[in-house]
Amino acid sequence: MSDPDSGAERRRIWIDCDPGHDDALAIILAHEHLDLIGISTVFGNQSVDKTTINALSISALAGIDVPVVRGAAGPLIGKVIDGSDVHGKTGIDGAELPPPRAVPVEAPLATYLPDLLERNGWSIDLIATGPLTNIANLLTDWPNAGRFIKSISLMGGSTENGNVTPAAELNIYADPEAAKVVFESAIPLIMAGLNVTTTVGADQPDIDMLRQSGGRVAAALSGMLDFYRRRQIEIYDRHIAPFHDPCAVLAFIRPELFTYRPAHVAVETSGELTRGMTVCDFRMVHSQTVSHIRPSKPANTRVAVACASREIVDFVIATIIETDRRLGERTAGGVN
Ligand code: RIB
Ligand code: CA
Repeated sequence: MSDPDSGAERRRIWIDCDPGHDDALAIILAHEHLDLIGISTVFGNQSVDKTTINALSISALAGIDVPVVRGAAGPLIGKVIDGSDVHGKTGIDGAELPPPRAVPVEAPLATYLPDLLERNGWSIDLIATGPLTNIANLLTDWPNAGRFIKSISLMGGSTENGNVTPAAELNIYADPEAAKVVFESAIPLIMAGLNVTTTVGADQPDIDMLRQSGGRVAAALSGMLDFYRRRQIEIYDRHIAPFHDPCAVLAFIRPELFTYRPAHVAVETSGELTRGMTVCDFRMVHSQTVSHIRPSKPANTRVAVACASREIVDFVIATIIETDRRLGERTAGGVN
């Protein structure tokens, strides 16, 4: 699909997510600026039943008409954890969303996506903004995955502290074995971790400005962001609604707003204190003559280490306002 403004061919992408306040922003960004061909849902911020309803409701709100595939209800091994502390009992508390207009595709992602891509001869880039269970199953069950998936841009992990434990971030901690599969897959990876994503988000003036823009999408999302920011203040004393997941999408839309460094990233699955940690090796120690220093493995990930926070927030808010304008035009044109 070509971009209506530039005419350039848009990057074809599929997003796997656990909506989720910031996942909602990621879905809208992907639809407005990329060629979004489908959404799959996973447990994480809430149960997969709730994240699936939320994905369908966000699609109804923003006029997004793509298949939604219900994904995994739990991790490859271990118990299900969820992000309801932050995202509330619906998984997207604070947003007045319309009811779903569609039903989810019941086929597993590891069947539906390979069939779609092989039948059409399409290659895609994947965006993952929740636990990586669906992606691990896809890569494990589809031997040709590397021929059709050009890269994976994910929100997860951290080069510093986690948010569930001092070492582990939620998306990785929820299914470390799945994350290990993805980071060992040899598919080029882009990682937006908490070290960057906690530095970017909407403050109260941003949320108020969005609400005052007057559109239906802006009204729903400003209510959502108010709730999300309030929980951040209560839990982390963080006075913004963090744009974690949009950072994974913006890697394909506005990469110049980020600084990336190559690193070998591995996932700890057995540490008592560090299970779910993304161990990022920036050392670039390639000498084989050292005896006690373990050489670095080849980089498998471009890790975000800095970002232009203000420009990111302005771009996300402008996209939401543009979504309302596009929908308004469609309604005025009688096509809704
Ligand atoms: O740790 C932040 C991540 O966990 C984000 O993807 C957020 O949506 C939650 O899923
Ligand atoms: Ca998420």
